[in-house]
Amino acid sequence: MKIIIASKNKGKLTEFQQLATGTKLEFIPIPEEKLEIPEESGSTFRENALIKAKFVSEYFSLPALADDSGLEVDALNGNPGIYSARYSSQKTDQANCEKLLENMRGLNKKERSARFRCCLLGYNQGKIVSSEGTLEGEIAVDFRGEKGFGYDPIFLLPKLGLHLAELDKDEKNKISHRSEAFKEINDKLHSLFN
Ligand code: IMP
Repeated sequence: MKIIIASKNKGKLTEFQQLATGTKLEFIPIPEEKLEIPEESGSTFRENALIKAKFVSEYFSLPALADDSGLEVDALNGNPGIYSARYSSQKTDQANCEKLLENMRGLNKKERSARFRCCLLGYNQGKIVSSEGTLEGEIAVDFRGEKGFGYDPIFLLPKLGLHLAELDKDEKNKISHRSEAFKEINDKLHSLFN
């Protein structure tokens, strides 16, 4: 059962392929490297995932799976949310983290709650399946750890006393918002082929 991963991020493709080990699903890259995927112009993670999955699926006449994710900070009314990748003007991981730490300056531990959220959405001939996963934590006060990407160095997992960037890939995959969403959508994806 072939499904195109509607993302140009090779890391995501590999992550999904690892998660699908032992299932009947076969995740493949976008068949045409130069294909321009439309802008993420939706107002929710789900809308953005739908834009990507529908476009790629209709273009190649194959089922497609897209994800959209980001960081929601309670003290900032859910921001950066869908703007997580482009929070700072430089749009780099480092600058995004620095801007967030600056905006959280002076807030105490109780005011620093946050979560990563991931929406996964599969599309085929008008059929849609979707799922959501979250990873709860807190915005730390400094950078720690060298692994991962994005906001991982400033995302504290209070139960472990570790920042997400201190976890190995396998450890992160066990608890991440993406793997939680994937576990939920795994079975549903088969219905795209009926
Ligand atoms: P995307 O939509 O999955 O490409 O993610 C959008 C942005 O959300 C990324 O550029 C990161 O800034 C942030 N993000 C999403 N997932 C993670 C994660 O697992 N760790 C750190 N940052 C993340």
